[in-house]
Amino acid sequence: MTQQEIKIGIVTVSDRASRGEYEDKGGPAIQSWLERGLSSPWQAVSRLVPDEQPEVEAVLKELCDQRGCCLVVTTGGTGPAPRDVTPEATEVVCDKVLDGFGEQMRAVSLQYVPTAILSRQMAGIRGRSLIINLPGKPSAIDECMDAVFPAVPYCIDLIEGPWLETNPDVLVAFRPKYARKPS
Ligand code: MTE
Repeated sequence: MTQQEIKIGIVTVSDRASRGEYEDKGGPAIQSWLERGLSSPWQAVSRLVPDEQPEVEAVLKELCDQRGCCLVVTTGGTGPAPRDVTPEATEVVCDKVLDGFGEQMRAVSLQYVPTAILSRQMAGIRGRSLIINLPGKPSAIDECMDAVFPAVPYCIDLIEGPWLETNPDVLVAFRPKYARKPS
């Protein structure tokens, strides 16, 4: 089997950024983290949507099902405010919830800010795609990506996605010894 093309969805969920009242800082922060962290060639598929659950669900489905993104990372809309609906949309579109991602991101984030407890960020699998929610703040994006990304390449192996290589100066991905790159 030849190596599949690596496409990664980057979704900013923000009313104000989608209305153009506020510069999207979250999407570019995810992109720049991935540019540093991944050594495999990959392509970003970026989207910006308001905090409307049907729109968030639709964009997640599009990126997973039509665009074939093996990974979709969202930013924003994870808090307790009435318009924060990203985790609800993610849960609806996922076949499986991976509780460990939210647990780990909150545990690590609590070392930085006590308000990390307010984020309901989660992760799950839709078909052959992994979806991960991150908070909106760029520093939170870096802290959360550092916390969970070592497990991401093997998760994508397990859902039969492409083989992701990381930049060892930034992070070392953990794979069990028997994990083999498809030739
Ligand atoms: N996590 C980290 N690592 N760093 C942060 O500054 N901010 C918190 C939390 N998680 C924060 C964090 C705050 S203040 C909120 S309200 C929630 O994320 C939700 O943010 P969101 O609504 O932008 O998704």
